[in-house]
Amino acid sequence: MQYSEKVMDHFMNPRNIGEIENASGIGEVGNAKCGDIMRIYLDIDEDTKVIKDVKFKTFGCGSAIASSSMATEMVKGKTIHEALAVTNKAVAEALDGLPPVKMHCSVLAEQAIKSALIDYSKKHNIHIPELDGVV
Ligand code: FES
Ligand code: FES
Repeated sequence: MQYSEKVMDHFMNPRNIGEIENASGIGEVGNAKCGDIMRIYLDIDEDTKVIKDVKFKTFGCGSAIASSSMATEMVKGKTIHEALAVTNKAVAEALDGLPPVKMHCSVLAEQAIKSALIDYSKKHNIHIPELDGVV
């Protein structure tokens, strides 16, 4: 299996690993396909709704770690609305591609961010229309 240099870089030197104490929102998703788990912590500014900080913990394969790392980089400094536009395809593209059997690893990253935003919206009683119907 051939991995891009970017995948290798984000796997070997993952950005934004860790936890955020008193996070605004926490998302945890599991991958039914492989049993891997990804947890994302968001620190969201109350007024501007900008994601000031984001950290992740992933128990999973190299592609899942690289996808988490890239996804956190892509949503950092963005508004909630902009962060919701970060799809798994965008994450995989930013990594210069993932092997087809590893695409589900990037899906996990998109879902983890959405799940953290759902958690945030519930805790703060905010309605985020884009998240209607997303589990
Ligand atoms: Fe998930 Fe191997 S199946 S790490
Ligand atoms: Fe399951 Fe990568 S193999 S997340």
